[in-house]
Amino acid sequence: MKVEELKFVKDFVRITHDAWLKGWHERNGGNFSYRIKDEEVAELKELINETSECTPIGVSVPNLANEYFLVTGSGKYMRNVILDPEANIGIAKIDEKGKNYKVVWGLINGARPTSEFPSHLMSHSVKKEVTNGKNRVILHSHTTNIIALTFVLPLDSKVFTRELWEMATECPVVFPSGVGVVPWMVPGGAAIAKETSKLMKEFDIVVWAHHGTFASGETMDLAFGLMDTAEKSAEILVKVLSMGGKKQTITSDNFRDLAKDFNVSLPEKFLG
Ligand code: 13P
Ligand code: ZN
Repeated sequence: MKVEELKFVKDFVRITHDAWLKGWHERNGGNFSYRIKDEEVAELKELINETSECTPIGVSVPNLANEYFLVTGSGKYMRNVILDPEANIGIAKIDEKGKNYKVVWGLINGARPTSEFPSHLMSHSVKKEVTNGKNRVILHSHTTNIIALTFVLPLDSKVFTRELWEMATECPVVFPSGVGVVPWMVPGGAAIAKETSKLMKEFDIVVWAHHGTFASGETMDLAFGLMDTAEKSAEILVKVLSMGGKKQTITSDNFRDLAKDFNVSLPEKFLG
């Protein structure tokens, strides 16, 4: 058995390919990570090498101590993952303090996990805590239409939530807690990781102004589906704005009725 043949690795590779086909991942844009389940780690044990050197993560994630992550490589193209998984993705193990990682499979020829690993791990850390360990996936994509909107809408969570909810009836059901917004920041470091993870306490989807989107989910399908739904809604809004703006829309009371029938709770602060 090879690591590439394990079900969770095949699923991961399929999502990277689907995300590439969506047009969200030019060049090395975007990155993807999955917190591997204990039973999947057990399947891996014979196939990995834990002797490699430790590298500081740059942030501290004590509740992820000894966890294993499947993650895309820094500078690697999402488009190439399906062609050569071992060169473009890898498995990183977090040390017992949650401060360092080591690569135990893949990322061959000295490759490293994504430069956004601090943002991924801090978001995983928060999500693990607030979902009782259920949430396992973080996807960062350069979503064209959401990025376009960050140039014209106020960089405000209430505005983004309400506008994206209004553009597709399924949106409040798919992301009932709303959308977080991080103002423009330098990517790849601890500062943007902290801001993003703060918002991940409340939201499953966080927009990085003029850069892209972070989506989280319990499964790879759910994280991908969330990204896809929010980005499609943003595409509709771009079209609506290009056609001269809304002439009618879904009202706050419509949302309240939807919430009742679909059994979701929508925060009143987004319905005012
Ligand atoms: P990486 O190639 O390091 O994953 O960076 C891509 C990116 O999207 C940075 O935000
Ligand atoms: Zn990016």
